[in-house]
Amino acid sequence: MSELNNIALKILKNGKGILAADESTGTMTKRLESVKVESTKENRIKFRETLFSAKGMSEYIGGVILYDETIKQKTNTGKEVPRLLSEMGSIAGIKVDTGAKKLAGSPNEKITEGLDGLRDRLKEYSKLGAQFTKWRGVYNISKDYPSKLSINSNAHALARYAALVQECNMVPIVEPEVLMDGDHSADDCFKKTSEVIKKCFEELLLNKVDLTGVILKPNMILAGSESNNQITYEETAKLTVKCLKESVPSEVPGIAFLSGGQTEVQASENLNLINKFNDTNFIMSYSYGRALQQSALRHWAKDINDVEGTQAVFDHRAKMCTLAAQGKWSKNLENI
Ligand code: 13P
Repeated sequence: MSELNNIALKILKNGKGILAADESTGTMTKRLESVKVESTKENRIKFRETLFSAKGMSEYIGGVILYDETIKQKTNTGKEVPRLLSEMGSIAGIKVDTGAKKLAGSPNEKITEGLDGLRDRLKEYSKLGAQFTKWRGVYNISKDYPSKLSINSNAHALARYAALVQECNMVPIVEPEVLMDGDHSADDCFKKTSEVIKKCFEELLLNKVDLTGVILKPNMILAGSESNNQITYEETAKLTVKCLKESVPSEVPGIAFLSGGQTEVQASENLNLINKFNDTNFIMSYSYGRALQQSALRHWAKDINDVEGTQAVFDHRAKMCTLAAQGKWSKNLENI
């Protein structure tokens, strides 16, 4: 087994998942302001440290995706963040793209940037203790989108990113996110997501990426958030498994879904059913941002010094997600 495959499996084994705490300062500011907490450097690390030192980390969270600011910050007790994570039994990861920008040639779509100078930044992150990375391509669905241009350009960038990351002995999370926004049908989501993922793997292979050392981070198959034709959880689970079975090469060890705007409970319920219907060899777990942090953030905002209370809320959510990643979640476990 390759070293990269080992890291990927360590992150996702036994129902463990990934905490996506890599919000850029802009996004984190929006999140903090939504609960009326000032977005200072100190407050950002205070919230994150509260989660990273929670008891549940060692049992449920195999990896944490950090943002550039956070991986270089020290905790309250003067510890480097990657060291704290490693003491909690979790692996540090880092978001390395520099964001989605207007795509020249199709200005209503986005292309993710960050390849220039990436090789040197990766070396620096690796020295700081990161063992895996994330790059997110983003696609919107409408009658004309995603265009071939957006599908090809983002797949190309994701593949060049993944090759550079493996060259530096880290595991790339490849995240092609087809957004929930819009009134498209679940069928449209299925078709577009399949096309996007297939193109990504075509480019990954062209760039000689070792697929046994990759984690795919896709969206689930859902109708658009403004569609009048929502589908059931069961249909989402079946379509999601079908899409991945048809689009992802069998060498890939693990798939870790994003939550993409689903509520916390919805994201657990869908993941649970996906695992009940999972007839592939892929591990199917989670890499949630909002669906792991929302209620913990709301609790924390009431008293930012309530470490234990906030950690209890986070631990519950992480436990629910890990149970869902094993197909062992049920709604009555939510009533705490
Ligand atoms: P959400 O789970 O909030 O969609 O965030 C996951 C993520 O990392 C998006 O890039």
